[in-house]
Amino acid sequence: MGACNLVIVVFSLIVPLILFTATADAEATEFHDRKLVYVRGLQTRHVQVYNNLTNGDSFGIHCKSKDNNLGFHIMGPNQVYQFKFKANVWGSTRFYCGVSLKGDRGVVFDLFKDSRDGTRCPTFCRWSVFRDGVHGYREDTGAEDQFFAFN
Ligand SMILES: *[C@@H]1O[C@H](CO)[C@@H](O)[C@H](O)[C@H]1NC(C)=O
Repeated sequence: MGACNLVIVVFSLIVPLILFTATADAEATEFHDRKLVYVRGLQTRHVQVYNNLTNGDSFGIHCKSKDNNLGFHIMGPNQVYQFKFKANVWGSTRFYCGVSLKGDRGVVFDLFKDSRDGTRCPTFCRWSVFRDGVHGYREDTGAEDQFFAFN
């Protein structure tokens, strides 16, 4: 076998190997990504709703998901309503809440929705009830980026 043929044989063995390895890497990465999403879906998430009303006012809150009814609670001055949950792996987790003030004012909104909050608040979702409505804050910067006005 001449040197030239040897080179061709070696290449014909190595090139498919490289291509195969590259393909396997890509699959491995994709699998890894899926696995990361899976793990994130199982992570415990913490939600807090602060009472930021003035004049010693309270608010009522009642949150539900498809499988949970967390009941009605009254939050007095400076109290914080909170719960923890694990989002499902399908990304369909959704908790919606009614928040009410005296005088028939209130609003129903999504407190946690995986499609909106999976990256917005991956571990900790903070909300504040003010006189005008419910304000939501991003976890990474703490900046307000959600607002649901009371009717
Ligand atoms: C809302 O109330 C909480 C708890 O009292 C407090 O830590 C937070 O700073 C208040 N937020 C604003 C914007 O005043």
